[in-house]
Amino acid sequence: MAQIIDGKAISAAIKEELKEKVEKLKEEGTQICLAVIQVGSDPASSVYVGNKKKACAYIGIDSLAYELPEETTQEELLNLIDELNEKEEVNGILVQLPLPKHINEDRIIQAIDPKKDVDGFHPQNVGLLCIGQSGFVSCTPAGIIQLLKRSGIEIAGRECVIIGRSNIVGKPMALLLLRENGTVTIAHSKTKNLQEVTKRADILVVAVGKPKMITREYVKEGAVVIDVGIHRNENNKLCGDVDYDDVAPICSAITPVPGGVGPMTIAMLMYNCVEAGTKR
Ligand code: GUN
Repeated sequence: MAQIIDGKAISAAIKEELKEKVEKLKEEGTQICLAVIQVGSDPASSVYVGNKKKACAYIGIDSLAYELPEETTQEELLNLIDELNEKEEVNGILVQLPLPKHINEDRIIQAIDPKKDVDGFHPQNVGLLCIGQSGFVSCTPAGIIQLLKRSGIEIAGRECVIIGRSNIVGKPMALLLLRENGTVTIAHSKTKNLQEVTKRADILVVAVGKPKMITREYVKEGAVVIDVGIHRNENNKLCGDVDYDDVAPICSAITPVPGGVGPMTIAMLMYNCVEAGTKR
């Protein structure tokens, strides 16, 4: 039977480590502060932002919340970012996505000082990751690397297949697995013979955004399966992109939904905030 990769426990361990580090930093006179900006009141975004603020409070990081109305102009948002870039006491700036349609997300991400870009979305941080230098890394893929490492799963030399090529998950995931010496393939909606490709994987990372799409026909026996998806099924229960009940019996390790990848994203955001506060 598969090892169940416990994202809840691993994220809790990381948060404990960070809490201790933040306490020590406080004793040395350093207080870490994250500014969180939300434009509009999308209910899902409000939940995510609330969880980020809660995690900050738990670890001992100050959070500044900016809840701006839907009608906020791009210029107003850029002005706020400029102000926060200049503020010495603010270490991290996070603009919750998606933004309203009249605001250009790329323009906003590029306005954030790369040294305060704790989401790891700024082109400078993406470029640093690409050339193997240190910078902020997107939190979900960084969390997946932690899940693998802390579960004792070897990456070097193994066939890693990622389904999904987004800027936030798929692409940085590929670069991180490559950095760990995996042999990496990115599959996507235009990939031919998807099952043939995914069946090669020793480590399969699934970020397709379709509930329970990945059944055992896509998975090699003994593979490690990481499920990035989160959806509500017809009974209002959470499920992932992977059909867990079908796939779990044939793999060596698997992340559940909920309690797998999800809790790692916030833990890694907190990790990036602590890095932002210590590497000035
Ligand atoms: N919206 C959904 N996920 C994220 C994330 O990781 N960061 C930001 N800023 N917005 C998001």
